[in-house]
Amino acid sequence: MTKLVTFIAVLVAMASVMFLSQYKSLPVNNDKFSFEEAKAAYIAEQERRERLEEARLARLNPPEEQDFIVVEELPLVDLNTAQLVKGHELYQRCIVCHGRQGEGRLSQNSPAIGGQYDWYILSSLQDMKEGRRVNALMNPYLRNLDNDDFVALADYLSRLPWRGAQR
Ligand code: HEC
Repeated sequence: MTKLVTFIAVLVAMASVMFLSQYKSLPVNNDKFSFEEAKAAYIAEQERRERLEEARLARLNPPEEQDFIVVEELPLVDLNTAQLVKGHELYQRCIVCHGRQGEGRLSQNSPAIGGQYDWYILSSLQDMKEGRRVNALMNPYLRNLDNDDFVALADYLSRLPWRGAQR
């Protein structure tokens, strides 16, 4: 019995020596693992996932449709007096027909008024308001304006670049 136990013990010892010697002979190569590379790969993967997630969210919640575009435009005239500021503001309602720079619109049959003499613009507006000059198209736009508004409009308009009488 003791012999058998000794025999088994010797067998186990030999087996483990064989195993251990084989284990030792395995090439050890730690160079293959570069911490920096692994870190960079991990970060790149994180970023890729974030981008995918953003794209997914963007598809789920498309931005609300805007029915207007806000365009910041520099004023054409140096608005350095209160009257010019007022004239510029009042003129916004005239742009549909006379154009942003007062260049006139053929489609509206409306003449160029940017750069026109201020006295001419003023007297035209007064004449229209008081019915001496009939302009059925424009009349509704003048109804709520008074003489001070006309003066401000004429001041502003006369400073715009004159494009000639063509529309
Ligand atoms: C609905 C279009 C329309 C709008 C808005 C409009 N106009 Fe006019 N305007 C015209 C038309 C058309 C004429 C030419 C009518 C005519 O010959 O009698 C005209 C003529 C004028 C004239 C005379 C030009 C000239 O050479 O005799 C002046 C000044 C003028 N508009 C200023 C304005 C101002 C200031 C506003 C804003 C408060 C304005 N208009 C808004 C259509 C418009």
